[in-house]
Amino acid sequence: MMIYQNFAFIYDQFMENVQYQDWADFVEEVLNSNEIKGDKILELACGTGNVTGLLRKKGYDMTGIDISEDMLTIAQEKSYENNLKIKYLKQDMRTLNLNKSKYDAVVSFCDGINYIIEEEDLGAVFENVYKHLNDEGIFIFDISTEYKLKNILGQNTFAETSEDSAYIWENYYDERTRILEFDLNIFIEEDEMYTRHFESHRQKAHRSDELCSKIEEIGFKNIKVYGSIDFSPEKEDSERIYICVQK
Ligand SMILES: C[S@@+](CC[C@H](N)C(=O)[O-])C[C@H]1O[C@@H](n2cnc3c(N)ncnc32)[C@H](O)[C@@H]1O
Repeated sequence: MMIYQNFAFIYDQFMENVQYQDWADFVEEVLNSNEIKGDKILELACGTGNVTGLLRKKGYDMTGIDISEDMLTIAQEKSYENNLKIKYLKQDMRTLNLNKSKYDAVVSFCDGINYIIEEEDLGAVFENVYKHLNDEGIFIFDISTEYKLKNILGQNTFAETSEDSAYIWENYYDERTRILEFDLNIFIEEDEMYTRHFESHRQKAHRSDELCSKIEEIGFKNIKVYGSIDFSPEKEDSERIYICVQK
């Protein structure tokens, strides 16, 4: 099943309170503290381009890739409206290939990596990132943790309504496979009627030690894991962790 199709059109509405600005500031801080001079950034799973746009406004030369055409359509529209020059491309990060282009940093925020379920695919993503980075280049990504998928989302239902749309979000977590499956029922008003759309997503609760050993195998160095963008360490109840590594 394709995901982030109809959801794309209401995604931003329901992400209003997400800390996009903090994430963009975090990227800038990490790049400055590592004395990265170049300004070419590739964003994986960029979605509707919220972080992409903010980084462009900071002056970075941005390329965003995502597997969802609908998410990219919204991203593209926003970049035109805001007069931001950003290159958006439809690509699957598992098979990423940008014709030998190299970047000073690769970033991915808000669960992109949780959508990579298979071990093999995760290795392929990290290898692809490595190939697309300049020497000393930085890779920054986040994941929603096992704690969050199991204790906060797992077996819970969330719902939200707005003026012309609504969703019901039902979560099922399997402790054995560490996979969270969630069903999204989305209702969008069209001509005084609501159309129901359905999407089923799967996210994997990757553990930081497993991610780090995979990353190390590929050849990355300076591996840092944070429990928050204030650079504090990961805790047992961290809901999101941030991993920064260098080529
Ligand atoms: C929760 S959204 C996050 C979007 C954006 N990073 C943000 O912060 O709003 C997850 C995104 O991951 C994308 N995605 C999932 N699997 C992918 C893959 N294999 N390659 C590229 N993008 C992928 C989805 O299409 C979706 O846009």
